[in-house]
Amino acid sequence: MISEKDFIPSEYTRSIEKGNFKWSAPSNIALVKYWGKKDNQIPANPSISFTLNNCKTITSLAFEKREPDGNFSFDLLFEGKPKEDFKPKIRKFFERIEAYLPFLKEYHFTINTENTFPHSSGIASSASGMAALAVNLMSIEKELNPEMTEDYFNQKASFLARLGSGSACRSVKGSIVIWGNHEETEGSSDLFGVEFSRNIHPIFKNYQDTILLVDKGEKQVSSTVGHDLMHNHPYAEKRFEQAHINLSKIKTLLESGDLQEFIRIVESEALTLHAMMLTSMPYYILMKPNTLEIINRIWKFRNETNIPVCFTLDAGANVHILYPENVREEVLELIKNELVGFCQNSQYICDEIGFGAKKL
Ligand code: DP6
Repeated sequence: MISEKDFIPSEYTRSIEKGNFKWSAPSNIALVKYWGKKDNQIPANPSISFTLNNCKTITSLAFEKREPDGNFSFDLLFEGKPKEDFKPKIRKFFERIEAYLPFLKEYHFTINTENTFPHSSGIASSASGMAALAVNLMSIEKELNPEMTEDYFNQKASFLARLGSGSACRSVKGSIVIWGNHEETEGSSDLFGVEFSRNIHPIFKNYQDTILLVDKGEKQVSSTVGHDLMHNHPYAEKRFEQAHINLSKIKTLLESGDLQEFIRIVESEALTLHAMMLTSMPYYILMKPNTLEIINRIWKFRNETNIPVCFTLDAGANVHILYPENVREEVLELIKNELVGFCQNSQYICDEIGFGAKKL
């Protein structure tokens, strides 16, 4: 089994004075949710997600050799302007990954990052952001060690991204990624995401995710705090067990294309995630009244039309509407006629399943 040690590089064969890379990395939406973690960003249960296509972070990384002084040295720009409040998160990320990228203190970095989705849309940019930074850093390591294989590159990028934000490890590759040890998934690991490489049923090709922006405000309870509340949570152990079972089931459904069962698991996972929040101590609610309105209208529409559309939620009030491409028109009609009124400033984002990080 691959362990952390496998990501500590031996002496580099080359050196590089300076350079510049640019990558995009997408967001992802979990079908079976990661909720709860152990030390060092090890998930309490395995998860699986669709990699998205349109919601992404574009990050360029310029680097130049410097006289090491024992500190990290970097500037952070967001949409071209210095952004001091993002720096502590990046510094923490660098600290966590330094053992695996020993060159970090030898360079000054200029990180310039932007998102394709509206700022403060409530869409987590941590997954796409950390994945985009991780692949850029791997591009530097590849310069220092040109023999590196593509598999190692991707695996280590996912490993590094995980140390920035757990779900980020599922954003390096597409179109469906599993993260976390799962007995029934060969090669699965707590350390990095692996592509779900079995025969995915064609119904999932171009699967759509329309994200309804219900509440764009700052979350009352961050994901980090939420994960932490799974320690000593009365239902945690059962929930972790259930995630293993749901992952096994959903893998089968991704092959068979049985959307009815797929929907049952996906919606149950979303509601279970929020049930864990409702039953944490202290308890909290991230859904808003409009979240529930949207869910009820999706159910009504599905009952009346038999169109296989369902919802999922992440740790917030926004609703992800998932459906096959062949019912796109009908679902977009539903959204425009009935659901857009429940969105903040009528905003929603059309996305679909995608293929992971890209070098630009
Ligand atoms: C509800 O990956 O944001 O979206 O590891 O603390 O950065 P950290 O948490 P994060 O948690 C995401 C949780 C989730 C479910 C999921 O994406 O699997």
